[in-house]
Amino acid sequence: MSKLNNRSKKILDISSTIMLVVFVVCCLLLMFSYTDNVSSTRTKYLRTNFPNFYNDFEVQRYTWKCENQKCVKYLVEDEETSLATCNMLCSEPAIWPKPVHIKLTNRESSIIDKTKISFNFSQGPVKIMLQNATDLFIKSLESLKPGNQSTPGIKLSINIILSDPNTNKLKLNTNESYELTVLKSDSLAVRLSAANFFGARHGLETLNQLIWFDEVVNELRILHGVEIRDYPKFPYRGVMIDTARNFFPVDLIRKVVDGMAMAKLNVLHLHLTDAVSFPIVLPKVQELARFGAYGPDMIYTPQDIRDLLQYSLVRGVRLLLEVDAPSHVNAGWSFLQEGANKFVICGESDIFNGHLNPDNDEVLQVLEDIYSDLLDLTDNNELFHLGSDEVNLTCWQDTKSANKIAMKLFWAQYTNKMIDRLKNANNNELPEHVIMWSSPLTESPYFEKLDVKVTVQLWLGDPSSVLSHGHRVIYSTVGHWYLDCGFGPWKPSMHGGVCDPYTPWHTFYDYRPWVQHGHQELVLGGEVCLWSEQVGPDSLETRIWPRSAAFAERIWSDPSAGDDYDIYTRLVSFSDRLKSRGIRTAAIWPLWCSQNPGKC
Ligand SMILES: *[C@@H]1O[C@H](CO)[C@@H](O)[C@H](O)[C@H]1NC(C)=O
Ligand SMILES: *[C@@H]1O[C@H](CO)[C@@H](O)[C@H](O)[C@H]1NC(C)=O
Ligand SMILES: *[C@@H]1O[C@H](CO)[C@@H](O)[C@H](O)[C@H]1NC(C)=O
Ligand SMILES: *[C@@H]1O[C@H](CO)[C@@H](O)[C@H](O)[C@H]1NC(C)=O
Ligand SMILES: *[C@@H]1O[C@H](CO)[C@@H](O)[C@H](O)[C@H]1NC(C)=O
Repeated sequence: MSKLNNRSKKILDISSTIMLVVFVVCCLLLMFSYTDNVSSTRTKYLRTNFPNFYNDFEVQRYTWKCENQKCVKYLVEDEETSLATCNMLCSEPAIWPKPVHIKLTNRESSIIDKTKISFNFSQGPVKIMLQNATDLFIKSLESLKPGNQSTPGIKLSINIILSDPNTNKLKLNTNESYELTVLKSDSLAVRLSAANFFGARHGLETLNQLIWFDEVVNELRILHGVEIRDYPKFPYRGVMIDTARNFFPVDLIRKVVDGMAMAKLNVLHLHLTDAVSFPIVLPKVQELARFGAYGPDMIYTPQDIRDLLQYSLVRGVRLLLEVDAPSHVNAGWSFLQEGANKFVICGESDIFNGHLNPDNDEVLQVLEDIYSDLLDLTDNNELFHLGSDEVNLTCWQDTKSANKIAMKLFWAQYTNKMIDRLKNANNNELPEHVIMWSSPLTESPYFEKLDVKVTVQLWLGDPSSVLSHGHRVIYSTVGHWYLDCGFGPWKPSMHGGVCDPYTPWHTFYDYRPWVQHGHQELVLGGEVCLWSEQVGPDSLETRIWPRSAAFAERIWSDPSAGDDYDIYTRLVSFSDRLKSRGIRTAAIWPLWCSQNPGKC
């Protein structure tokens, strides 16, 4: 400003005054049109027609009293206790997923002063990640209760102790356990010890859930006299999103990661591509996204993926990127071909499930490039998902290379070629876990024809045939752990391929395939799947939550048959916590049931 001469200053003054006036007028107009049309119509009506009644109208307040370890609703007389406070102090504290061991020495709580929270953790390679995680902790308290402290509260000192301050990648054998104690003397002392960053991060989530917003005092409260020892039952706890049938912006995917972090889920599996679209820009084969994306704004750039990877990692979540092949291909691929040598066959007859052409060897080179790019992007080659979903052997039957070979055998041979290319792309070494969707191929005797002992993501088929051959599994059983079912066919004329009925949260919760099928040592864990034919950005979150949370408790601590009162109360509290962080969740029942615990 100082360098401007007077004339231009004056012009600036005048123009900014004009702009200000225009702005204020616009605001007023907006306000009037809004209040006139929407919010105050009802208020005006009530005030005009029932002035005596409406002017001192107030909705009755209720209080909750703990009776026989249940919160019971009463009209407020003298003392007032909020529902959240009652739920925290009366029965099992509302922690989700339920910790493996929890000991409460007393049931007391204190108001905390959120401006007086201090962390103490040592220097070390994961220091920045811990800094990120503690920043997130403070931010989430801010979303529970925005604004300044008005009632005095207690100071909170959090000591984080890691026995291994080096681990900065999440692998299946990463020790995710933690121990947490919250004790009160003059101030509140929190001791959080863990093997590494990932365990400590889980501990911070749990600590976060010991803190809640008490609307009666309008402050945050913490439960103390608590000792928790906690660890996951399974190392692989995933959520899959199909970003091909419909596209989801990265911002929205980040919100899914936020929720996963809260629920201690640790793998975000992106089914990136399918026959209908190819949104991921792969540096070595850019044509696929150039011709296969739905539109210029509907792509994931390599930078998007790298950012998402970092974002997820400090939230304890790793990424698994899947480009499905050799079926479920079409978009993008068909533009790679020159002349008669097709890349995709059967795509004309079945737009939703084209297949790679086994007669064209160039296809394999493209696959190798794709694998190389994906490995590069994920920066962690322990897990690799080949796809291999729903191959239609009829499609391959008439190809030259399939000539006279039993089709499933041919398929096994082709899969071996794909695996070979994966090995090339990974510096001549196979990733430790090559994952594929279950299919008729993942059964004896075709299994044995594969060059590698694959890990099977079991969505359909008999687990025992997979397990008895010593293959590892990730459970994603349709009818139990599918998030997309229950919306009917998307065209009345459609038959088959419809996944119905809707799977309610308690079906997710009750499913324990490892009990039914045994071989627990071969179970890496489970994953809930959201295929997106009938899900768009507007409904993504409510399809995922709170059902994925129900799954999360099953796969984290797998509590034995619990008390309904406890499960419902904790799940509702967890849903409210998701909402407090801006994540949309589906209602699980009428609000009356939440306000009258144990009565539904
Ligand atoms: C902070 O942590 C270090 C290392 O664990 C410990 O020696 C020190 O006593 C702690 N300081 C406080 C104030 O708790
Ligand atoms: C919060 O406190 C700060 C510093 O005391 C003050 O400037 C600010 O106006 C306060 N905000 C509210 C919403 O009270
Ligand atoms: C994980 O770490 C904790 C704490 O350091 C340790 O007690 C436990 O034995 C470890 N678990 C495994 C399986 O190594
Ligand atoms: C972690 O913190 C560092 C330093 O404050 C910051 O630059 C970085 O963006 C953060 N990372 C994430 C993923 O939030
Ligand atoms: C398999 O492919 C053939 C040939 O393209 C097609 O006629 C058939 O409908 C497909 N089957 C399924 C189950 O999609």
